[in-house]
Amino acid sequence: MQDLQAKVQTSGRKYRVGIVGAGSIGCFLTAILAQDTDLELLLFGRDYMGLELAAHGLTASWQQGAEHFQASVAAVAFYTSYVSLIEADIVLLTVKATALTALVRQIKPHLRPDVPVIALQNGIGISDIIQSQLHNQVYRAIVPFNVVKTAPGQFQQSSSGDLIWPATSFAVMQYLANLFHAQGLAIQIEADMQAAEYGKLLLNLNNALNAISDLPLRQQLLHRDWRRLLAASMREWLAICAKEQVRPRQYTAVSPTLLPRVLNLPDWLFRRLASRMLRIDPEARLSMYQDLLQGRRTEIVFLNGAVVALGQRYGIATPVNQAIVEWIHQYEAGSSIKPDPADWCRQLGLN
Ligand SMILES: NC(=O)c1ccc[n+]([C@@H]2O[C@H](COP(=O)([O-])OP(=O)(O)OC[C@H]3O[C@@H](n4cnc5c(N)ncnc54)[C@H](OP(=O)(O)O)[C@@H]3O)[C@@H](O)[C@H]2O)c1
Repeated sequence: MQDLQAKVQTSGRKYRVGIVGAGSIGCFLTAILAQDTDLELLLFGRDYMGLELAAHGLTASWQQGAEHFQASVAAVAFYTSYVSLIEADIVLLTVKATALTALVRQIKPHLRPDVPVIALQNGIGISDIIQSQLHNQVYRAIVPFNVVKTAPGQFQQSSSGDLIWPATSFAVMQYLANLFHAQGLAIQIEADMQAAEYGKLLLNLNNALNAISDLPLRQQLLHRDWRRLLAASMREWLAICAKEQVRPRQYTAVSPTLLPRVLNLPDWLFRRLASRMLRIDPEARLSMYQDLLQGRRTEIVFLNGAVVALGQRYGIATPVNQAIVEWIHQYEAGSSIKPDPADWCRQLGLN
């Protein structure tokens, strides 16, 4: 494998990067990578996205500190069949976790075995799904910020955070990390991707609660009962992290272990201490709300569902996450009933 890498490096030919899943994350990263003319990009996705990008081009915009960045590309090599994936020197998987099993089966015949595969999904158990079907080296990368589509072909980073990229000896992966950095996208190289993945899940536990609350994120966070439920779901996850001896990576100003305590504070104190957390678009909601609105399967199994599954493995009770998973499954089945958060807290014995 190292020989092949060396050959790629010394042959002087461009790296070919396959990006599979032309949605928010896939398109955003493609626009940035496309700024390097030494790279050849192959974007794989649905035909409707190919038509959209052909008509409107592709633009990513983001902010780092006070500085605004924009990367545009007029035309991207877009594919709906995976035959050309054989040319890729690295593959970024940017579909939702729910699409992974079927997708990996589709791409397997077209993937060279020496090529590293980078999975950018939220959730736990992602590498296992891929590794169960492929012999390639599989790495996780974590996207702590949100990306939204603001217009056809336009993708905007809508919250802050550094891309967490795995430390590896693959030259092509180091090349991409340097490129993201050079283009102004904040990136951190991480040796412990399990800690990064586990820390991200701690934050993603609110995706489902935000959808259940049917409130914009800011309003939800300003409601103590919703915060209590979130804090309780986090405590269950932290108990599992402790059992596995994983220290979840810190993404917020408050450490993972302190976060549930801050969320449990009375409203007046929470408002004061969490002013940064509350500095968000008053209408913003998390993506699971959109998934349910559009009748799409959610990633719940990989988020709160993973807490329940690991809890069962270790004999750790996870009643809060279990209840959250059940609510989301009911919504996926078409229910529109909303729980009262105060009643829910009482039923779960949360004070
Ligand atoms: N967006 C964010 O802000 C954000 C932030 C952090 C992490 N993430 C994570 O990143 C992952 C991707 O999220 P996203 O928001 O980019 O999702 P997305 O916008 O839904 O993009 C995924 C794209 O992949 C396409 N796709 C699915 N199966 C495919 C297949 N077999 N062949 C070709 N294309 C296929 C989807 O098409 P269809 O919809 O037509 O199936 C969709 O266009 C998720 O795990 C998410 O949790 C997202």
